[in-house]
Amino acid sequence: MQVVFIGPAGSGKTTLVNKYGEWLSQNGREVSFINLDPGADETLYSPSFDVRGFFTVEEIMGREGLGPNGAMMRAMDILAERSIEFYSQISALGGDYGLIDTPGQSELFVFRSAGPKIMRSLSKIGRTIVVFLIDGQLVYSPSDLIAVFSLAAACRLRLNVPLVHVVTKADALKRSDLERLMQDPKYLGEKIVEEEAGLLQEYVLEHSKLIHPFLRRQRTLLVSALSGTGLDLLDSLILDATCECGDLR
Ligand code: GTP
Repeated sequence: MQVVFIGPAGSGKTTLVNKYGEWLSQNGREVSFINLDPGADETLYSPSFDVRGFFTVEEIMGREGLGPNGAMMRAMDILAERSIEFYSQISALGGDYGLIDTPGQSELFVFRSAGPKIMRSLSKIGRTIVVFLIDGQLVYSPSDLIAVFSLAAACRLRLNVPLVHVVTKADALKRSDLERLMQDPKYLGEKIVEEEAGLLQEYVLEHSKLIHPFLRRQRTLLVSALSGTGLDLLDSLILDATCECGDLR
């Protein structure tokens, strides 16, 4: 099974890949770490497949005279062009779980062709799921929550594989009622009215209706890679979502 970690810059992808991998190993599962971020400085884990062995953002900047953003866009296009070659190397790794770390600039991975192409290839190897990371430290208001879930919904639509949401950095949340906001649509509506004003309130209320089906279909977990809280539940959620009988497809 391949588990692809996607989320905005700094949401905790690399840390969670590392901690979840450790947790899986401790629980008797065989894990391969796969780094698809050509811009990563360092990974906390030791990758079995590392895209930086083929190209890095820094090299592309030097070779093609591009800035960091242009080089990352180019890197994502190379990733898409060579997806078949990389897929065959990743598929040869074996093991129970392939944990896949993706670039910090998740919008480039998701909205250019690299993400969908890689996902199509991975799905041929076996069960593939996206864990979408929401940085719990950055959710201050109901509109923040709706914004990140909109991003997750866009990711689900673009990549077309099962997706589970995880709120990271549960040890450092900005709101103590975050779980309730995600689980109780009535409460979320009340908080939108209480905390947002004017046109934004109207817009967020309308938009929350689009997000409700995503919230209703699965529980959103709070995980702390720092303390290890929620890693067992993350594993159950992933197994549930990739099970033939799961209803998250
Ligand atoms: P990019 O690939 O650069 O986008 O980052 P990333 O999404 O891989 O995030 P990374 O794992 O590098 O973590 C970003 C920051 O968040 C680091 O300073 C981590 O130490 C911190 N962090 C990650 N997980 C947790 C957590 O569970 N709790 C807290 N408090 N901090 C965390």
